[in-house]
Amino acid sequence: MAKVEHRGILLAGGKGTRLYPLTASVSKHLMAVFDKPMIYYPLTTLMMAGIREILLISTPEDLPRYRALLGDGSPWGVRLEYAEQAAPRGIAEALVIGEEFTGDLPAMLALGDNLIYGRYDFLRKAIDGDPEDAVIFAYRVDDPSSYGVIDFGTGGEVLGIEEKPANPRSHWAVPGLYIYPAGAAAEARRLAPSGRGEMEITDLNRRYLEQGRLRAHKMGRGTAWFDTGTPQDLLEAANFIEAIQRRQGLIIGCPEEVAYHQGFIDHDQLTARIEELPECAYREYLARVAEDLA
Ligand code: TTP
Repeated sequence: MAKVEHRGILLAGGKGTRLYPLTASVSKHLMAVFDKPMIYYPLTTLMMAGIREILLISTPEDLPRYRALLGDGSPWGVRLEYAEQAAPRGIAEALVIGEEFTGDLPAMLALGDNLIYGRYDFLRKAIDGDPEDAVIFAYRVDDPSSYGVIDFGTGGEVLGIEEKPANPRSHWAVPGLYIYPAGAAAEARRLAPSGRGEMEITDLNRRYLEQGRLRAHKMGRGTAWFDTGTPQDLLEAANFIEAIQRRQGLIIGCPEEVAYHQGFIDHDQLTARIEELPECAYREYLARVAEDLA
């Protein structure tokens, strides 16, 4: 099948209630996961999937801060656009907000508080599949009760998805990374608001399941997935990043490095970018990377 270009949507709105008072005056996705803002991790996940046109959605108050942090994406060879979500009306609303941006292309939607690290081959496999399908991923967690949970049939087919079940039917949680075909905004608009008044992403996924257009790819054990929605999650993710980075001397979620490896920028552009950075460990790391690659 011919490769189809995908647009990216990075969702960084919401309330961040569970992280209060941390989130009283700072957007959740700007907070640190060890040495870089949380949003860098899902941003680089989209870049690892080969996506270069990305729409960042956040609240009207926080959008200027994301613009200040990420700009137009040009140092990373990507094009970033911005859009507001006026109120936290649900994850599926991102597709409605991004309708014009995605046009008639499929979109990969990444939640700004989800961190995925490790083997990314599942991403390529998912993106290279039928562009008319919606794709979700499945990650085994010990306690899936705070996530969407997939019930798989014996042949690996999806039988159902339950949202935050008290008694989960499996250990397969749905991470905050999804692929939707063109036309997903229209599907999302047809959803009735849930009990909490939101356009639920699980309801949208169920619609695709009913139409026989939902695929679920399992992420293997070689991949780490963190959702950084609670103080405990945030600390665990930071500890994980710190441990791997220190052991390997390689940085996780570094957009400059990902851009270079993906061929989005060349060596001269990488060097120019490094010169813009202040003296810090991040700059020293990139300088070392650029030297090794020269
Ligand atoms: P959640 O963690 O479900 O919600 P939240 O971030 O508002 O936090 P809390 O539950 O503690 O109040 O959201 C998952 C991700 O989706 C997170 O990155 C925020 C984003 N989001 C939006 O941008 N808009 C929305 O309307 C919703 C519901 C979530």
